[in-house]
Amino acid sequence: MEANTLEKQHTEQDFMPINGTDYVELYVGNSLQAAHYYKTAFGFQSLAHAGLATGLKDRESYVVVQDKIRLVLTSPLKSGTTIGKHIDQHGDGVKVVALWVEDATQAYNTAMEKGARSYQEPITEEDTNGKVVRAGIYTYGETVHMFVERKDYNGTFLPGFTKWETPDYNPAPTGLKYVDHMVGNVGWNKMNHWVNFYEQVMGFKNILSFDDNDISTEYTALMSKVMSNGNGRIKFPINEPAEGKKKSQVEEYLDFYEGEGVQHIAVATDDIIKTVRDLRSRGVEFLRVPDTYYDVVTDRVGEIDEDIAPLKELGILVDRDDEGYLLQIFTKPVEPRPTMFFEIIQRKGAQSFGKGNFKALFEAIEREQELRGTLH
Ligand code: FE2
Repeated sequence: MEANTLEKQHTEQDFMPINGTDYVELYVGNSLQAAHYYKTAFGFQSLAHAGLATGLKDRESYVVVQDKIRLVLTSPLKSGTTIGKHIDQHGDGVKVVALWVEDATQAYNTAMEKGARSYQEPITEEDTNGKVVRAGIYTYGETVHMFVERKDYNGTFLPGFTKWETPDYNPAPTGLKYVDHMVGNVGWNKMNHWVNFYEQVMGFKNILSFDDNDISTEYTALMSKVMSNGNGRIKFPINEPAEGKKKSQVEEYLDFYEGEGVQHIAVATDDIIKTVRDLRSRGVEFLRVPDTYYDVVTDRVGEIDEDIAPLKELGILVDRDDEGYLLQIFTKPVEPRPTMFFEIIQRKGAQSFGKGNFKALFEAIEREQELRGTLH
């Protein structure tokens, strides 16, 4: 892929500049315990809190951080709330993918002019540390993009949140750095609708496409298109199920999430062997490919810096493209429903998404589906 040319093109036409991912908010059944899980298992640190103690009546949010990744974990405090309904329908899942921009009002107005559906008009929130402007639009399913303008703010997280301090319990980080990409699963024949949405409303470009010939096994198939913003800091692959002999993982997701939503959050590390060994020791469970994957991996990807032995021990996958290679691994779903999971990725030049691993990986997922009784 001619990344430099693409990036130049994007920058020239970029009507919606985005600095990066600001935060990801999950609606969950028990935000206090979820925060404990992300600290204990993934090495996030306590950052901020909002709830009864800060004057909120309907919700309790805990914010955890690791390098540039901020997760907001939110639960309702009473029945009948929109948060509670979201959790009832979807189970725990991502509600907000927040994007850090210089001018949230302008980003929102531009998106609305280009046909977005409003979630929240621009609101300015202030405290003694300054002000933040936020506005939101809907994307697929009930998922929302919030535009966050924080150039006039130097507080911990957002106005309304207090610093969350836990002096007695702060497990060490695991080397997770930033959100590399976030994948959405959309319904049958809906991929191109959402590709058009990201192109026309958000100014993104379709940088890679995979059809069911690229992503299929004997039993299941899916299609995927990768959308990237102008500077390449935001990458949103969009998956759609495809016809196979049996139910694909995307279809299984749509059934259990009861709609479209975020399938996985890919987080980057500089040392995947160390990170994955650490995560495993803390109880994070990963998908496994058969050991035979490693018999031919060097033939497929050529020489790499890492020894194959620890990759095989930990189940880390390797793929190569024109620009370099990448190492990646996928967790099992992190909630009872087989819906959202995490990817850990280390890029060594490669800007792609591991196409060479799709088949081995999807066969691993099918084995999990078989165990769940959902592969039929
Ligand atoms: Fe991914």
